[in-house]
Amino acid sequence: MSSMYGSIESNSPPSSIKILVLGGNGFVGSHVCKEALAQGFSVASLSRSGRPSIKELWADEVEWYKGNLLEPESLKDAMRDATSVISCVGGFGSPSYMCTLNGTANVNAVQAAAENGVKRFVYISAASFGVIDYCIQGYYDGQRATEAEIKKRFADAEYSSSECEWLHLELKAHDSLLATLENAFARVILRPGFPAHTVPSHLRLMLPKSQRYGRSSETEPLKAEEAGRETSRSTAKILVLGGNGFVGSHVCKEALAQGLSVSSLSRSGKPSTRESWAEKVEWHKGNLLEPESLRDAMSDATAVVSCVGGFGSPSHMRTLNGTANVNAVQVASEQGVQRFAYVSAASFGVIDYFLQGYYDGQRVTEAAISSRFPNGGVILRPGYIYGKSESIIFAPFEKVLQYAEPLRRIPLIGPVFSPPVSVFKVAKVIVKGVTDPTFSPGVVDLYSIIRLGKEL
Ligand SMILES: NC(=O)c1ccc[n+]([C@@H]2O[C@H](COP(=O)([O-])OP(=O)(O)OC[C@H]3O[C@@H](n4cnc5c(N)ncnc54)[C@H](OP(=O)(O)O)[C@@H]3O)[C@@H](O)[C@H]2O)c1
Repeated sequence: MSSMYGSIESNSPPSSIKILVLGGNGFVGSHVCKEALAQGFSVASLSRSGRPSIKELWADEVEWYKGNLLEPESLKDAMRDATSVISCVGGFGSPSYMCTLNGTANVNAVQAAAENGVKRFVYISAASFGVIDYCIQGYYDGQRATEAEIKKRFADAEYSSSECEWLHLELKAHDSLLATLENAFARVILRPGFPAHTVPSHLRLMLPKSQRYGRSSETEPLKAEEAGRETSRSTAKILVLGGNGFVGSHVCKEALAQGLSVSSLSRSGKPSTRESWAEKVEWHKGNLLEPESLRDAMSDATAVVSCVGGFGSPSHMRTLNGTANVNAVQVASEQGVQRFAYVSAASFGVIDYFLQGYYDGQRVTEAAISSRFPNGGVILRPGYIYGKSESIIFAPFEKVLQYAEPLRRIPLIGPVFSPPVSVFKVAKVIVKGVTDPTFSPGVVDLYSIIRLGKEL
């Protein structure tokens, strides 16, 4: 069975199994939809807003329903011919809101599914965090109520069997999809509080193959023949977008220190510094919001590193971190650039809500990189980046917090424990990422930046 999103190893005919994803337009739900489509299933989604803003191609293949889990009548149409339901609906808020959303709403869904003859119900719950549970009581109370309802209604659900071999194959694939999801989520559940907009490396397995940044395993280098096609270090030319900024200037310095040819593009061009490194960089003036102004600088670049981004009003952040960088990704891929690295940022949990445009923009850029540079896109997600003058304050925190990864997983407050990272490490990792053919494309999280930065 195959589809434009990927394939599974079976010659079965088009799917008669329909998976209804509740909240298929959300972070987890959209990945569930993509994975189910990749495996050739028929997919529907139900949420209050339907398909408001998803422009990606996969969404054309989903049947979108509008409905509210708190209004059971609104679920019936979508449930009617669903074989399985996967609920990705839930969230935080006041205690009573959490109880209603995680509990009542999902309980309604479980009941409607059972009444409509749905055969399987998968629910994305969360692991307990001991005493911390008391701070978000409604969240866990609601989830446990939903789990109890699932146990009650779907205790001995069996698949209908069929004599048709292809249906048998489909059911097997269906089983394996559910197992994949259950396993993946079992791991997510062990990591509650996972950043709302990030795709942890283990979840990349759930993305369509074409969107897994090419190689999902960090231990899997490019094959010899592919590596041969990559530019050798002596002919590599790196274009740093924002090479006069804080991170960008360190990337320029690191690349020069490694003997690479370096150019930079930004609106103001050459910075006023008198430091000698700046004389060795080829400075271009250009604006990422005017794609034509990038073509000259990109024409002979083998790799591009974007250090463009920043804060401001929500729409400015969306434009600068998103639109501007997406333009750069597009021009780079049209100009035949081989590798594209981007300095994104790690999520800061609840704080993300106050910086929505910043993260929205970054995730849009990341998606563009994964689709345009599936084999050569490197995305760094550092937390706070400190420079030499701040190292006396931040270096000790980096040292201690790098070993405290489990603390970062605590819901809501966990991200406070994110280790800061030195700009020198960020620069080293990014230069390695665009020059070493064995460096795996994909997301490099803050702990990996610290670890790799130490090794280099
Ligand atoms: N600093 C941190 O602690 C930290 C932490 C996590 C992630 N990050 C990420 O790391 C990246 C770099 O941050 P930074 O601290 O180095 O920022 P920065 O010092 O403000 O540098 C931004 C650079 O982007 C250029 N730029 C801005 N708008 C542009 C446009 N429209 N076209 C072309 N160039 C443009 C600026 O130069 P011109 O003004 O001359 O155009 C400047 O060189 C950002 O994506 C940021 O989100 C930073």
